[in-house]
Amino acid sequence: MFPENMRVLIDEGQIQQRIRVLAKQISADYQGRPLHLICILKGACVFLTDLMRQLDLEISLDFMAVSSYGARKQSSGEVKIVKDLDSSLQDRDVLIVEDVLDTGLTLDYLFRNLLTRCPRSLEMATLLSKPSRRIKPVKAAYVGFEIPDLFVVGYGLDYAEKYRHLPFIGVIENEA
Ligand code: IMP
Ligand code: MG
Repeated sequence: MFPENMRVLIDEGQIQQRIRVLAKQISADYQGRPLHLICILKGACVFLTDLMRQLDLEISLDFMAVSSYGARKQSSGEVKIVKDLDSSLQDRDVLIVEDVLDTGLTLDYLFRNLLTRCPRSLEMATLLSKPSRRIKPVKAAYVGFEIPDLFVVGYGLDYAEKYRHLPFIGVIENEA
């Protein structure tokens, strides 16, 4: 199960512990208000399922898929909605759940797009953030871990659709 050339950056225990802290903060911030979670597919699905089970709130869910990377490691700078939401955001407290905030191009685009749908409030939660990579100044209200400029996989994150199932965040080393 453990791939060759893989170094663990953040282990399973650290991820779960951090998620419990984030969930407490989110539960306190939205206390008494229903929260509508938007999971950005596919990468954020693992984070979403662990996070939402720790939230002490009335929750509803929706999913959105965007493409920005394809099978390459660099952002194309182009964001396309591949699957749009099923329900309206009108007057709802909305939290976008994302795997990693890298250049910020994806979340900057999504944030502006979702704002036009008149939510009551709109915030973002991201498991990972790479501040040194930022092109767009996106601010996420909830950040799991700030990491250096590394391409990471696991816990939902892929490289060419591989490694999403790994329970930890890892770095592929000396890739051929
Ligand atoms: P951004 O638009 O550059 O912020 O990129 C965000 C998207 O790029 C994420 O939703 C991921 O799908 C992908 N991405 C960015 N960095 C990584 C990484 O280190 N590993 C895997 N996917 C990444
Ligand atoms: Mg991806």
